[in-house]
Amino acid sequence: MKFLVLSTLALSASAFSPTAFAPRTTSTSLSARTPFIAGNWKMNPGTKNEAIALGKEIASSFSDSTPCEVALFAPYPFLDATVGAVGSSGVKIGAEMAFVEEKGAFTAAVSVSMIKSLGCNWALAGHSERRCLFGETDEDINKQVLNLLNHDVGCILCIGETQAEYEQGLVGPICTTQLKKNLLGVTAEQMANVVIAYEPVWAIGTGLTCPASEAQDVHATCRGVLADMYGAAIADTVRIQYGGSVTPETVDELMAKPDIDGALVGGASLVAEKFSRIINFKV
Ligand code: 13P
Repeated sequence: MKFLVLSTLALSASAFSPTAFAPRTTSTSLSARTPFIAGNWKMNPGTKNEAIALGKEIASSFSDSTPCEVALFAPYPFLDATVGAVGSSGVKIGAEMAFVEEKGAFTAAVSVSMIKSLGCNWALAGHSERRCLFGETDEDINKQVLNLLNHDVGCILCIGETQAEYEQGLVGPICTTQLKKNLLGVTAEQMANVVIAYEPVWAIGTGLTCPASEAQDVHATCRGVLADMYGAAIADTVRIQYGGSVTPETVDELMAKPDIDGALVGGASLVAEKFSRIINFKV
């Protein structure tokens, strides 16, 4: 696999203390960020009962010793049941996308108020499948992000390059552009409700994980962009997840990196045993 030369900031990895709840050092300065691992179920599983069973099993593996916050992003028809399935475990449930209008003649669309009324206080925005398969533009995604934040709903903003962009060495510029366009108008205060997920498109569902050191470089670059936009102190508090073929076998090495603050997990989040090991990662 080709390695990229990215413009990274000076890293402070040597200051990183590898224990589960250790404050995570960053490419800007020291700060504490609670790791955050989320499952993106996409258009799975097939039935409500399967969603309930999966949610229950995952919730039962989340305990006081789990070293991260955990959320599950489920299809709309299963949100209500999944909220019930995880109960008071502490696992959060979110939507995979929320449309920007409040109500009205928008067939098949789902609003932020609708998902909030089910007890969901998180949503994804800008997943590459929404960008590539459903034609969502940076402007559409920016509107979604602003709408979520204006409703006090947390947002995981997904960014990342395609394989062609990767091969052209465009990882840094693509992530920079997406961050700047998708976060346009988001205030420094609102960034407390934003998580970034770096998901190289070529690594999604392919079994090709971005090497941890390479992902770390991209995360450091992204944090540098956030520092340019919001200042180092804010950039330091923003959690940046890695997504793309994360497995029980790869999570520990990823989570040991100073700027990798969590993971957004697709396929492995549909297998309770695998996702349970991922959320209970060891560093
Ligand atoms: P996989 O973990 O299946 O590669 O999917 C990643 C993803 O798209 C999470 O949003």
